[in-house]
Amino acid sequence: MAVHRLAQAAEVNDVLARVFTVMRATDPGYQAGSSFYASSDDLLGRVDLPEFQVLVQFIAQSLQSTIKEANHSVWPQGRHAMQLELVGLWFQIQNGAAFHDIHTHGNCSWSGVYYVQIDPLEQRRQHPEFAALNGATRFYSPMFPLLGGAHMDMGNAFMQQATLDVTPSAGELVLFPAFLPHKALPYSGAQDRIVVSFNAQLHASGGDKVFGYAAA
Ligand SMILES: [Fe+2]
Repeated sequence: MAVHRLAQAAEVNDVLARVFTVMRATDPGYQAGSSFYASSDDLLGRVDLPEFQVLVQFIAQSLQSTIKEANHSVWPQGRHAMQLELVGLWFQIQNGAAFHDIHTHGNCSWSGVYYVQIDPLEQRRQHPEFAALNGATRFYSPMFPLLGGAHMDMGNAFMQQATLDVTPSAGELVLFPAFLPHKALPYSGAQDRIVVSFNAQLHASGGDKVFGYAAA
């Protein structure tokens, strides 16, 4: 996993928050007053704004960097041209204690979430029922299912912390392997919690050969 921060977040986020709010309002499928909304995942073909392009470029560069690092010891030696493809990109808006229950992402190897807008942490803490977890994203370790009835001693203490809570700020991008289960915890705030989510594939120009054979 990795966290990146968009340097131009202050200029980009205000524009995107307004555009996404208008897009939600004009979606015939949106029920006014609903506390959770997810757009269709075809934003790359629907939004043509300089601020959106800045975000997409930032996402692409961050993915390239993090995926390369994650596969550093596995990719074949030498230079390889890699083609990054964002196979889905969408936005979500939540408030009023809405949450997005535990799930994984399919049809991709990496996914991510960029926080366009959310109340500052000190403000979020003022909701005593959620405290610091107000609007956080929770990731579940693959070891989580192994804890049921498990033997516990100091030897496997590393297994006991099976979740990771990301307490986000606007302008942050969290990247994660797509198989990793996660959940957007309930959020209540003065501002809506607005995020952009996406799925990515990365292919080598000569085929996805890793250990001498090509992936299907
Ligand atoms: Fe997700």
